[in-house]
Amino acid sequence: MKDIVPPAGSAAPPLSSTREHVSAANGELNLLQQFAGAFLRDVNLGVIVLDTRFCLVDVSDMACQVLGWEQEQVLNCRMSELFGELPTEHHLVQRSLLEGVVVRNHAVPWSNGSRRYDLLLDSNVLRDTEGAIVGAYVIFKDVSNLRSLEEQVQRSDRLAMIGQIAAGTAHEIRNPLTSIKGFLQMFKKTLNDKGMSKEVHHTEIMLTEINRINELVSEFLLLSKPKNVTIERLDLYQVMNDIMPIIRNEAVLHGVQVRYEATEVMPYVVADRELLKQVFINIAKNGIEAMVGGGTLSVTVKLDQVGRWVLIEIHDTGPGIPAFLIDKIFDPFFTTKQNGTGLGLSVCQRIIHDLCGTIRVSSKGFGTTFTVAVPYQDN
Ligand SMILES: Nc1ncnc2c1ncn2[C@@H]1O[C@H](COP(=O)(O)OP(=O)(O)OP(=O)(O)O)[C@@H](O)[C@H]1O
Ligand SMILES: [Mg+2]
Repeated sequence: MKDIVPPAGSAAPPLSSTREHVSAANGELNLLQQFAGAFLRDVNLGVIVLDTRFCLVDVSDMACQVLGWEQEQVLNCRMSELFGELPTEHHLVQRSLLEGVVVRNHAVPWSNGSRRYDLLLDSNVLRDTEGAIVGAYVIFKDVSNLRSLEEQVQRSDRLAMIGQIAAGTAHEIRNPLTSIKGFLQMFKKTLNDKGMSKEVHHTEIMLTEINRINELVSEFLLLSKPKNVTIERLDLYQVMNDIMPIIRNEAVLHGVQVRYEATEVMPYVVADRELLKQVFINIAKNGIEAMVGGGTLSVTVKLDQVGRWVLIEIHDTGPGIPAFLIDKIFDPFFTTKQNGTGLGLSVCQRIIHDLCGTIRVSSKGFGTTFTVAVPYQDN
């Protein structure tokens, strides 16, 4: 926030400006003021206090953090100016507040450019002893974690449902496919013997398509609950060594460069080898596919020794994921590709959640980074 000129006749210094000196000014501040100062400083709530001119009288640290404000620059400024070029209807604080409109538990999504928040907002007017409106306050809580937890639960529910359907139908789909495939292979041989090359080619296409259906069914089964999972202590060095040639191969086909950098001492993780490989390959494949016309895929392995996580970052220099799609990419069947199933990332998420790990994505206009965090064990 810059170049905002406080209107003439600014109010007395706000509590926030004195709250660092609460103890020094003990004599001058009564208990209530001390509490208000501590409340603004310590409590993890967004607090905004306004006067009747719709100017900011005080603001808590947390509110500044969420709104991307610098406290010294915004105090005494008009609210309308503080939200910059944002259309008025999207301002977090509405002028109607001063007319006595009371808001309770109003859910508002908010983005300060670098982070998205889900806020729960309360607001009301402040009145003097005669009942005249002298200002207003807004208090908000950051409930982003709760929201993402809620979304995770919904997603798990959906996955569980798909899993049940999948488990029930996968075999019914596979059995007839196996006989169709067998007969087609016989046809192909006979047609080949008769020199009917065009028909042989058509049969090959049919066989390829059947293989595609088979692969889809296998992914379905993975979503339902992987059957032959072997959880073991794996040397991550070995896992990465196994997958990097596959990733490099895929990259070459798409004219993409690959960079690989790993921490010197690679840890052990407890996981199923094939499933873990599948996660990294799926994410890398998405990155490679996103870089139409070339680019660089960087795979980096780092250790977070404090949290005891090993972080595998897969970054691409592709076009990025638009903000309005980023929440959807882990949904089963969400795809923007003509031949995509949209199951890749939901399967990855399922696998990593089963290992008590996380997958995070960050994409800001250009390039995308997926970070897989898995608990590690020492060598
Ligand atoms: N690195 C990336 N850059 C840009 N978009 C991405 C990236 N990774 C994923 N996406 C988006 O997320 C969507 C879902 O990915 P997901 O892997 O689940 O399915 P898919 O790649 O479309 O299909 P499939 O994995 O079956 O080939 C993609 O269609 C794409 O729109
Ligand atoms: Mg994919």
